[in-house]
Amino acid sequence: MNPNKALWEKGDFTRIAASMRESGEALVGALGITAGMKVLDLGCGDGTTALPAARLGADVLGVDIARNLVDAGNKRSQDEGLTNCRFQEGDATNLTELADHSFDLVVSVFGAMFAPKPFDVAKEMVRVSRPGGRIVMGNWIPNDPTLVAQILKISSAYSPPPPEGFISPMTWGIEGNVIERFAAAGVPAGKISFSRDTYTFNAPVAPAAYLADFRNYYGPTMNAFAAAEQSGKAADLQQELEALFERQNKSGATGVTSIPATFLRVTVDR
Ligand SMILES: C[S@@+](CC[C@H](N)C(=O)[O-])C[C@H]1O[C@@H](n2cnc3c(N)ncnc32)[C@H](O)[C@@H]1O
Repeated sequence: MNPNKALWEKGDFTRIAASMRESGEALVGALGITAGMKVLDLGCGDGTTALPAARLGADVLGVDIARNLVDAGNKRSQDEGLTNCRFQEGDATNLTELADHSFDLVVSVFGAMFAPKPFDVAKEMVRVSRPGGRIVMGNWIPNDPTLVAQILKISSAYSPPPPEGFISPMTWGIEGNVIERFAAAGVPAGKISFSRDTYTFNAPVAPAAYLADFRNYYGPTMNAFAAAEQSGKAADLQQELEALFERQNKSGATGVTSIPATFLRVTVDR
């Protein structure tokens, strides 16, 4: 089994995605989406950004490597009665089932960054987007002090070293790497712009209970706990993450978590 696919199918990202809906909708609302626009959401999960794009009238295809998330996306779309939004399985490194230049907009919010072979991913995003169209990525930033970058950093400290040749997904949060990958796909640096943006994770539970969702359902954190249990360090990992979630929580209300996290927004004009 492809380890990238196994990682995301092992957990249930819908449990985390539920806390990301407001920011997903806000991000999509600012993309200038119009009725009939052809949108690809790559690494779409259960549709946090795909569904809002469809509500704006776009013709949306969500592609994700995890079968369970594709099924969850199709269910959400059907439950809402959206006939212009469907989900299918696919790998961002090799989108064989998608034709060249077939999308006006390719969106990938914390999605394609998790695929291996980043140069292949950039090449595929460029290939399937039409000249004159756009690619928009949201990528977590290495060493950023906010939530997700810190979860991934802490988790990796408790995990076994990655295999030889592994390229960290976090390198998609470094402007120079992004430019290099799109340059190799034929896009000059002048067509790429960057900005810092914020995603807010909102959950109707206290930070410790919210952390439990990551421990039980978020692939990278699940793997870190599995490794930490083997080395007898699970309690240390729990403590570090609990402190992080408490520190980052900006909600003043008891039993509510609200955590803003900074990401790099990449816009590629095709
Ligand atoms: C952090 S989740 C984000 C999901 C969604 N974009 C959202 O904002 O809720 C990362 C997603 O990328 C997907 N993914 C990871 N590697 C992939 C690949 N090679 N091709 C397609 N999707 C991939 C995972 O299955 C998962 O749904």
